[in-house]
Amino acid sequence: MARQKGDHFYKKAKETGFAARSVFKLEEIDQKHALYRNGGKVLDLGCSPGSWMQYAASKVGPEGRVLGVDLAEITVGAPNSIFHQMDIFDLRIDEDPIKDLVPFDFVQSDAMTKTTGIPAVDCAASIGLVEYALYLSGKGALRPGGRLLAKVFEGPGYQEFLKDFRKAFKKTEIVKPKATRTRSREVYLLGLGFLC
Ligand SMILES: C[S@@+](CC[C@H](N)C(=O)[O-])C[C@H]1O[C@@H](n2cnc3c(N)ncnc32)[C@H](O)[C@@H]1O
Repeated sequence: MARQKGDHFYKKAKETGFAARSVFKLEEIDQKHALYRNGGKVLDLGCSPGSWMQYAASKVGPEGRVLGVDLAEITVGAPNSIFHQMDIFDLRIDEDPIKDLVPFDFVQSDAMTKTTGIPAVDCAASIGLVEYALYLSGKGALRPGGRLLAKVFEGPGYQEFLKDFRKAFKKTEIVKPKATRTRSREVYLLGLGFLC
């Protein structure tokens, strides 16, 4: 917490009313890749405390929709956003809360369990979450040509996973935003042009 309070991006998030500093990673990626469209539908996996949802909600506008899912509660909201407190792994394409919103234009996942600092453990946990995002996308959660942004921790198994990720999209970008803490092994994979 002490480290957080001295952090530039933490202060900036407080000042601008965002729930977390991670919004600045998303903003940087969005500025480069124009992730959202007016009226678009966004699925936000691992959305708590809610800064990515806040950002996405403002970008898709009043006609757009953002569905956020997390094990933990959120403290923010917007009229065009819905939140469900649940495990991502319990999401099913033909059930609430996603069945009436599919297909989404964009799936964003910042989901991660508590990190351990052990690369093999953190990498495996993050890959499991992204694998499920890809699985759901393939079942119809993401429209053909849609985009998926997901956080992954580098470690054993990452390169193999990256090969599979690349096969699902026309193009894949690997991004390490400036707001990522210097020592972190996290990167964001951005899949553009979903192929199935
Ligand atoms: C780094 S935080 C996300 C921050 C968020 N993007 C924001 O901007 O406020 C990661 C989140 O992933 C969630 N998470 C991890 N595993 C999950 C799971 N299996 N189902 C749902 N949420 C999960 C955690 O509860 C945590 O809130």
